[in-house]
Amino acid sequence: MKKTLIAYFTRTGITKKLAEDTAKQTGADLFAIEPVKEYSSSYLICVGQAKLENLQNYDIIVVMFPIWWFTCPNIILTFLEENDLSGKTVIPVCTYGSSGKGSSEKAMTAVCKDASFRPCIEATGLKDKAVAVIAAAIDEA
Ligand SMILES: Cc1cc2nc3c(=O)[nH]c(=O)nc-3n(C[C@H](O)[C@H](O)[C@H](O)COP(=O)(O)O)c2cc1C
Repeated sequence: MKKTLIAYFTRTGITKKLAEDTAKQTGADLFAIEPVKEYSSSYLICVGQAKLENLQNYDIIVVMFPIWWFTCPNIILTFLEENDLSGKTVIPVCTYGSSGKGSSEKAMTAVCKDASFRPCIEATGLKDKAVAVIAAAIDEA
């Protein structure tokens, strides 16, 4: 079985709950991507920490995040840049208010060229089917 890590960033807890529910369902490990410094709410700049130590243990990285201004938060890009994901399968998953994934796929693949990206799953629109759809994407990856 392929080893899966769910790395998530959350601000108000919605993405965290989805990450925890998905981990429970799939047996994946969980990793919280957190800012080193408290980010400024007026500028919403996140300086990433998020260096994974045991990345070699994983084949699939599910990256979960809220949509901010029609794309993924900068901290997600920092996470992708700081970690060597070459040869891994990355499954992006977003939560959002209403806009959907926006340009997050383009932003993520631009900074992480050596991973194999699956299409970003728009979890919010899937409502109570979200965990099942993510679990199926993990199975198929
Ligand atoms: C700074 C900021 C920008 C946001 N921009 C968008 C957006 O462009 N489109 C959208 O649908 N939702 C947007 N949202 C809503 C969040 O994506 C949504 O509430 C998300 O589920 C929150 O996840 P969290 O609780 O894990 O932080 C934004 C929220 C914040 C705080």
